[in-house]
Amino acid sequence: MAGSLKIAVLYEPSDNTGAPPPERPRHRERTAQPRRRRPRPKPDREEVAEALRKNGYEAFLHELRDEASLLDLARTKADLIFNMVEAFGGDDSKEAHVAAFLELLELRYTGSGPQALLLAQDKAVAKQIFAFHGIRTPRFASSYRGKIDHLDDLEFPLIVKPACEDGSVGIDSGALVKSVKELLERVSLIQERFDGPALIEEYIEGREIYLGVLGNEKPQALPVVELDLSRLPEGMPRIAGKEVKWDKGSEAYEVTRSAAARGLDEETTLRLQEIAVQVYGSLRLRDYGRVDIRLTKDGRIYVIEANPNPWLAPEAELAIAAGLQGRSFPELIGQIVELALARYAA
Ligand SMILES: Nc1ncnc2c1ncn2[C@@H]1O[C@H](COP(=O)(O)OP(=O)(O)OP(=O)(O)O)[C@@H](O)[C@H]1O
Ligand SMILES: [Mg+2]
Repeated sequence: MAGSLKIAVLYEPSDNTGAPPPERPRHRERTAQPRRRRPRPKPDREEVAEALRKNGYEAFLHELRDEASLLDLARTKADLIFNMVEAFGGDDSKEAHVAAFLELLELRYTGSGPQALLLAQDKAVAKQIFAFHGIRTPRFASSYRGKIDHLDDLEFPLIVKPACEDGSVGIDSGALVKSVKELLERVSLIQERFDGPALIEEYIEGREIYLGVLGNEKPQALPVVELDLSRLPEGMPRIAGKEVKWDKGSEAYEVTRSAAARGLDEETTLRLQEIAVQVYGSLRLRDYGRVDIRLTKDGRIYVIEANPNPWLAPEAELAIAAGLQGRSFPELIGQIVELALARYAA
């Protein structure tokens, strides 16, 4: 099939260019602030397009900027859409709508469908699903403008984050709260800034672990990747907050790296992988995904969240994990395409 297949790499510019507005940051911003690695001249979408070409596919970019580009999509000559979209018109909450649009057009596309995108995007809903499946996730409360949607019995320290954002938007050193005063201040800041609910979770001290998962009928977890936070400056919470992910040049950014998790015994590795696959299935993720986990000193595994269509670049955790299995970035991208095509062929 390679060679003749035309693949459109679909992306939304707010995910790839320009800095987010400081007062109400909505997006991860990738091109200008490559994550924890050498600056890369190429945006992620071009890395993916190039990887597709290395697989013998004919790849081109399709920017989803406005209504006209949506309508153009309806006339695309692509055989498959490589879906890298995480927002529409700068609005992250429209991520699933784009996948739903592709469904209506009966276009074949990579990655999760609208259902999984919606379930994963609302972290409170996702956590309730995890709990239903017996998957351990930190105890939490979610509240919006005085209305409480969910309330566990919580113990400080807590972490407060927007319930429906990603890329550590709204998560910085101030997210970790140790008193009622700090908690109330942070909840009100998050609600004002994001105009949405705040998720208040028990803070889990532990190793920061990422599990890539690939597949559909029999999803497989990749080798365990860890973001080492041990060298963060004194007094800074050990979390992968905004500083660690995006503040290039800052100490927090420079001293943190993702790599193979070291020193895990086989049993823990297998448990982590098993839980990641369970999480993946529970939210109906497709083709590829990444599960974010905290592993405590005494071996307890807490699922923080699941990411359908996770960050995809040669230096992303998913690519690091594939690399640990000896697979190159183009091979990973090629596998995602094959998984998507196999779904439609079934
Ligand atoms: N309950 C928790 N206990 C300990 N650390 C946490 C907890 N919740 C979040 N964190 C820290 O904050 C980071 C970001 O949290 P989370 O993954 O929920 O945010 P996100 O914005 O969806 O991130 P991304 O989309 O980039 O993965 C986590 O990777 C972890 O380091
Ligand atoms: Mg995360």
